[in-house]
Amino acid sequence: MNKNLQEGLVLLVGNDSDIVAHMTRGKFIVFEGGEGSGKTHHVRFSQEYLENQDMGIITTHEPGGTQLGRTIRETILSTTHTPVPTAELFLFLADRAQHVETVIQPALQDNTTVLCDRFTGSTLAYQIGARGLANPEFIMQMEAYSRKQLEPDLVIYLDVDPKVGVGRKQIQPGHEMTNFDDFDLDFHTSVRNYFQKLASEQECWVQLDANRTMPEVQQDINSLLDTLFHGTSH
Ligand code: TYD
Repeated sequence: MNKNLQEGLVLLVGNDSDIVAHMTRGKFIVFEGGEGSGKTHHVRFSQEYLENQDMGIITTHEPGGTQLGRTIRETILSTTHTPVPTAELFLFLADRAQHVETVIQPALQDNTTVLCDRFTGSTLAYQIGARGLANPEFIMQMEAYSRKQLEPDLVIYLDVDPKVGVGRKQIQPGHEMTNFDDFDLDFHTSVRNYFQKLASEQECWVQLDANRTMPEVQQDINSLLDTLFHGTSH
């Protein structure tokens, strides 16, 4: 059973010991979801919401949250190189290692909140769930190694029907075709299934229905953020 908004709120309120443990560092909040789930918009809206409360925030994304990462991102998404799935996995992990060590960890240590568009969940959902790479346990260990075992405080999973999500993405202004646009509905359904599995298994994940309008979804996200930062939703 996936955690919905209400269960997520209860869990965050009940997390006092974790809050104490993390008091000396900023919060690490990850947004996950399939194509067209609205992650990027919601990261921006959430940034504005928290900045209006005078919080120190940075937003970042994977792949491509560092200078090296931008080169890796171009390689991964390029329609000319087409890395094989194993090479693709290592590129995502290299991107993450650079990102965690040079951007995310320093910000958290500086007591800055980090909002990150995609992280561990994307590697598990795309490379294991959809690409079907062999030895998933081994991949999970390498993935944990790449992020120095860093765990998010909250993962907001925006669950969208792939038919809705892919449709939204295709009409997005300025959208350029990449390697990841060639996939059929089965691929996106496998990604979604794996994300849903993670949301049901992982304590810090909350699943929100992102088939709804942006304002409806953002209202739920604001409640989660209020609860994480203030222990109560307004
Ligand atoms: P991007 O254009 O950033 O997609 P989006 O705007 O939907 O976030 O492309 C990133 C693609 O890389 C996206 O299709 C998901 C995929 N991806 C993985 O397969 N594994 C990963 O570990 C990450 C971070 C992303």
